[in-house]
Amino acid sequence: MIVFKKIPALKTYLKNLRNQNLTIGFVPTMGALHDGHISLIQAATDRCDITVCSIFVNPTQFNQKSDLDKYPYNITADLNRLLDHDTDVVFIPDADEIYPEGDSYEMSYDLGGMDEILEGAKRPGHFEGVVQVVDLLLQIVGPDQLFMGQKDFQQFSIIQKMLELQESKIELVVCPIIREKDGLAMSSRNVRLTEKDRRDALQLNRTLLYIKNHIFEHPIDDVLTAAKRMLESPNMRLEYLTIVDVKTLQEVYEIKPEMKTVALIAAWVGDVRLIDNMILRK
Ligand code: PAF
Repeated sequence: MIVFKKIPALKTYLKNLRNQNLTIGFVPTMGALHDGHISLIQAATDRCDITVCSIFVNPTQFNQKSDLDKYPYNITADLNRLLDHDTDVVFIPDADEIYPEGDSYEMSYDLGGMDEILEGAKRPGHFEGVVQVVDLLLQIVGPDQLFMGQKDFQQFSIIQKMLELQESKIELVVCPIIREKDGLAMSSRNVRLTEKDRRDALQLNRTLLYIKNHIFEHPIDDVLTAAKRMLESPNMRLEYLTIVDVKTLQEVYEIKPEMKTVALIAAWVGDVRLIDNMILRK
């Protein structure tokens, strides 16, 4: 495993590999690696000759400074995990390396409003920051395949849209959500849950399963009303629970078996904001 902090050295190294016709799989992360990230690394090593992982806590995607300050960071543990999982290249730039001229940004892609709904509505500016950094990282790494998790459903949908608008040759590979044994979706934020929060957080997955098991038999409104009731708790604050088309992320009001839909949820459990989702198939 070779670690780079500077862009020119990384680019030269990867260019040399590309000249040998080796394919490059790229896993962008913000560190605090868990088994969900490792599943992306594994998918990249299975499908590509070289696996590159970046660890960069991107300041521009945090709409609240307190959220950025609380973001878990343990570079030694992360590097050890990557070493254990056959990662070839790790890129850990400083913010000055990524944003040498400051980090202000104006989105130049017309995402058709996809970045303004759901997470975008609750966290204004978040997806501008994600698009800004993923776009830059892709230009630096130049991968054949990009690996992202289904857990951040809107994130990968927006990056897919960006790649389409760019007419990019990069293939986006979306890997399934990895859950703890009890169903909690893995997230770097889970370490901040107290024991009680951790128990309450299980209700997110239970609610999504309830929706999946009832949505084809009952009207959407009835299912969502019952599902929202399952989340009523003094320790929880629901931000949204909705069923959307997997491609457009537009809300759907009636389910037909041929439609491809996903239930999306965001909720505060204690003072930790969690998201989760479940594709709805019969
Ligand atoms: O999902 C994440 O960890 C981040 O949003 C990403 C894609 C690495 C961009 O900073």
